[in-house]
Amino acid sequence: MRNAQTIAIRIIAIALLTAAIHCAATQTAKAQSPQRVIIDTDPGTDDALAILLALNSPELKVEALTIVAGNVTAPIGLDNALAITVLANRCDLPVAQGAQLPIHGKLTIEPFWNGPNGLGGAQLPANRCNADPRFGPDVIIELVHKYPHEVTLIPIGPETNIALAVLKDPTIVPLVKRVVLMGGSISGGNVNGAAEFNVMADPEAANIVFNAGWPITMVGLDVTEITLMQNSDVAELEKNAGPEAKFAAAVARFQIGLYQGTGFGGGAIHDALAVGAVIDPTFLTTKSLRVDVETEGRFARGETIANRNGTIDKTIPVGDHFETVGVIEVKPNVDVATNIDAKSFLNFFVKRLQSK
Ligand code: BDR
Ligand code: CA
Repeated sequence: MRNAQTIAIRIIAIALLTAAIHCAATQTAKAQSPQRVIIDTDPGTDDALAILLALNSPELKVEALTIVAGNVTAPIGLDNALAITVLANRCDLPVAQGAQLPIHGKLTIEPFWNGPNGLGGAQLPANRCNADPRFGPDVIIELVHKYPHEVTLIPIGPETNIALAVLKDPTIVPLVKRVVLMGGSISGGNVNGAAEFNVMADPEAANIVFNAGWPITMVGLDVTEITLMQNSDVAELEKNAGPEAKFAAAVARFQIGLYQGTGFGGGAIHDALAVGAVIDPTFLTTKSLRVDVETEGRFARGETIANRNGTIDKTIPVGDHFETVGVIEVKPNVDVATNIDAKSFLNFFVKRLQSK
């Protein structure tokens, strides 16, 4: 009888051990398998660099590019994205057209910052891959349901498509792994004193995305404007350059000239940092903060306003006035990138595209 008990205990112990080993193996496999990402983009110079970085990074599995109006109109953005996929030999990648206009108000595009074709005059192959017939936000919804808890969204344009996806199907929110977006700033804007372009271009959409309740990393101007490419980086990129590196170098040279012309010490490649942060979050220092999007205001529409102390004053009406009687805690909703190892990131970026 005691023998039988011992054998039973041993069998259970072996079964538990096997299950634990299997679980650990699955976790390791998961940790090693590439991360599924959807890049929502308005290509756009730095968007093009971000897409090429993602497509040349084995840590990522780009499931789709969804196109939004921003740097350029949505049709030009789609055309550019399709040409980039030809350049990268990736006609298998779904590229779907998305929103043509912001949720509210008029579209702003940026020919000054992106050149006439949206790519700083850099040339892409004349032929195009075929666009996916689905609407961008629907592609996002479908992929998030297909791979629950696995998909990281990388919005690098105005957040219209992401907001439309959430409005149409809020059940995607808890199923998204993370949102790592290029947009916003907690230290002043680039379109004016307050607002960063992607948020300013559709503040209502950004407001929806920032308040959806999913984990967000905000890769904003606070880090992208201190990560400036130099001609020496481009010279590295041009060593043994294939078609992708040649194109990236042409775009980067345009960025450098443009930014130096407006007072910067090199070229900002904003969107590539959001992709880099998904590949290796250690490039960034982040701080968990409450961030609100200004959707009104005379000077500050589109500003992302961070609460440094994590509290707001509690005021109550007393007679004909208000009185502060304490503070109320506010919950952080965003991991804000506050610093970056810019040199490491730029080296990494160059290495990933070198000889491609
Ligand atoms: C952002 O706006 C666009 O100009 C860039 O592509 C980037 O996404 C920077 O403010
Ligand atoms: Ca962009």
